[in-house]
Amino acid sequence: MKFLKTVVLAGLLLASGQIINALAQTVPGDAAAGKSMYPLCTSCHGVNGSGNQAMGAPKISGQLEFYTLKQLQHFQNGARGTVAGDIKGMQMAAMSKGPRLKSPGALANLAAYVSSLPDKTITPTVQGDAAEGKAAYPVCAACHGTLGEGIEAMAAPRLTGQSDWYLVAQLKKFKKGQRGYHNADHGGRQMRAMTAALPTDGSMNDVVAYINSLN
Ligand code: HEC
Ligand code: HEC
Repeated sequence: MKFLKTVVLAGLLLASGQIINALAQTVPGDAAAGKSMYPLCTSCHGVNGSGNQAMGAPKISGQLEFYTLKQLQHFQNGARGTVAGDIKGMQMAAMSKGPRLKSPGALANLAAYVSSLPDKTITPTVQGDAAEGKAAYPVCAACHGTLGEGIEAMAAPRLTGQSDWYLVAQLKKFKKGQRGYHNADHGGRQMRAMTAALPTDGSMNDVVAYINSLN
């Protein structure tokens, strides 16, 4: 428990610098302009952004707009999807570099359109012990919220209602250093440190099973 407290404190200290960062990146996007680019995304994420597990492509609807924009920027500038072995991240990084996505404001417009898509309920796929996961979750709530709703001021995404298999896959990527490796990726580096609280694959399944129960 002492260890967890230390981890949370370290995270919160890091987060205070992060707040300014997150706010600075909030650019109002034009959803109507973003719509014309969205057909580039449907083959993997679907017309409603509900995702496709067989393609490894997560649900992107229902996510906070600031976060979708930030991830698109990460993929475009090399803060995600460049580490050896991260095949899915590399696929998405390639998609973020299309000529139409390079113009100023293009990613903000696309993120605005994605956040306007209908938020369809997911079908849970992860098996875990939700009671065990509940015991681990308070450390996560500091940034992601008690209902996993995401907190923009902490740069932390919504977790509840997003593709559960993807949440587990991302926790593994943070732990392996396939996410949160870039100097400019402050949020990702923080999250990478947090995976110390989830020592095993089973503990990741458990916490995600608990997140599913919050839906
Ligand atoms: C070829 C398939 C493919 C296409 C096309 C594609 N993506 Fe992705 N996308 C993926 C995969 C796979 C991931 C998961 C990467 C990982 O596992 O780290 C992903 C991840 C993402 C994420 C990160 C979500 C999160 O919560 O971390 C966003 C945002 C995203 N895609 C948006 C888009 C948008 C917008 C487009 C259209 C420009 C697009 N994608 C086109 C396959 C694709
Ligand atoms: C100190 C704040 C903080 C704490 C505590 C924290 N996270 Fe995070 N988490 C973040 C941030 C910031 C991101 C986004 C990183 C980025 O921008 O790439 C994130 C991203 C994630 C993602 C990726 C989601 C996606 O769609 O890509 C998952 C899954 C996640 N966190 C789960 C957890 C779990 C489970 C816990 C508790 C064990 C936890 N987090 C604790 C800040 C935190």
